Amino acid sequence: MTSSPNATPQLTLTEMAVDVLNCADGREKCARSLAHAKTWFAMRESGALPDIGNCPPPDTPGRPERPELLSPRDVPRRKPGTPDGRIALLHAVAHIELNAVDLHWDIIARFSQVKMPAGYYDDWVKAASEESNHFNMICDCLERLGSHYGALAAHAGMWRAAQDTADDFMGRLAVVPMVLEARGLDVTPGMIDIFKRAKDHESVSALEVIYAEEVGHVAYGSKWFHFLCGRHELDPKDEFHRLVRKYFHGLLRPPFNEEKRADAGLPPDFYWPLTEELPEA
Ligand SMILES: [Fe+2]
Ligand SMILES: [Fe+2]
Repeated sequence: MTSSPNATPQLTLTEMAVDVLNCADGREKCARSLAHAKTWFAMRESGALPDIGNCPPPDTPGRPERPELLSPRDVPRRKPGTPDGRIALLHAVAHIELNAVDLHWDIIARFSQVKMPAGYYDDWVKAASEESNHFNMICDCLERLGSHYGALAAHAGMWRAAQDTADDFMGRLAVVPMVLEARGLDVTPGMIDIFKRAKDHESVSALEVIYAEEVGHVAYGSKWFHFLCGRHELDPKDEFHRLVRKYFHGLLRPPFNEEKRADAGLPPDFYWPLTEELPEA
C-alpha cells in the first residue's frame, strides 16, 4: 500500500486485526472494528489492493474485567419467560457476538501466511463489522432493560474452538462458521419468539438483523472451505466430517434449520452424519 509522505502510515490488514483483538473493552473493540472495516472498504473501492501483512495475533483476545467467565455448567440458568431470563438471554448473545468479532478478525490474522483472494478478506472484514453492530445492538437492548454487558457471568471457553484450530485453517472454517455459527441459525428463531411474546420490539428487531446477517457468515465459511478443498483436491463433505470430528467436542444436535442452512450452502449430508457417533471400526 502506498501513502503520501506526510500521511499517517496505513496499518496493514493484519495490524488492524491485532488492534481489535488486543482491545479489552467491548464497545471500544467494536468501534475499532467498524473503523478498520470502513478503512478497508474505502481502500478496496478506490481500487487499491491493501497490504495484508503478517502481524501475529495474540493467543487470546483482550477481554473486559467483567463479565466473570465461568464454566458453562456454573453459569446460572434463568427461565426465558421472565424479565430476568430475557436479560440473561441477551447477555449470552452479547457475549457470543463479542467473541464473534474477535473470531472474524482472528481468522484474518491467524492464517495470513496462506495466500487467499482479496474477496476472502472482504468477506471476513464485512462479517467482523456486522458482528460489531450485533454486539452494540444487543448492548443497547440490555441497557434499555436496565442491565449491561458484564452485569452477569458468561461462559468461559468461547475461545476454545479458536485455540483448537489455531494451526488448522480448514479446521477453523469447518468448526467456527460452518458448525458454531450455523447453530445460531437453528436457535435464533426460538429466541425471536421469546421476545415477540414479551412484546420487546427492539430486541426482536436486533435479533432479526442478526438472524439475517448470520446466514452470510455461514455462507462465507462454506464458500472458502470449498475453495480450499478445490485447491487441495479434497472431497468437501468427507473433509468437513473429518475436521469436525477432530476439532468439535461432541455431536451436532438437531433440530436443524434446514432452510437457512441450505441458503448458506450447507447441505443436509454435511451435518446429519455428525449427529451420530462413528461406528466402532
Ligand atoms: Fe453475530
Ligand atoms: Fe456471525
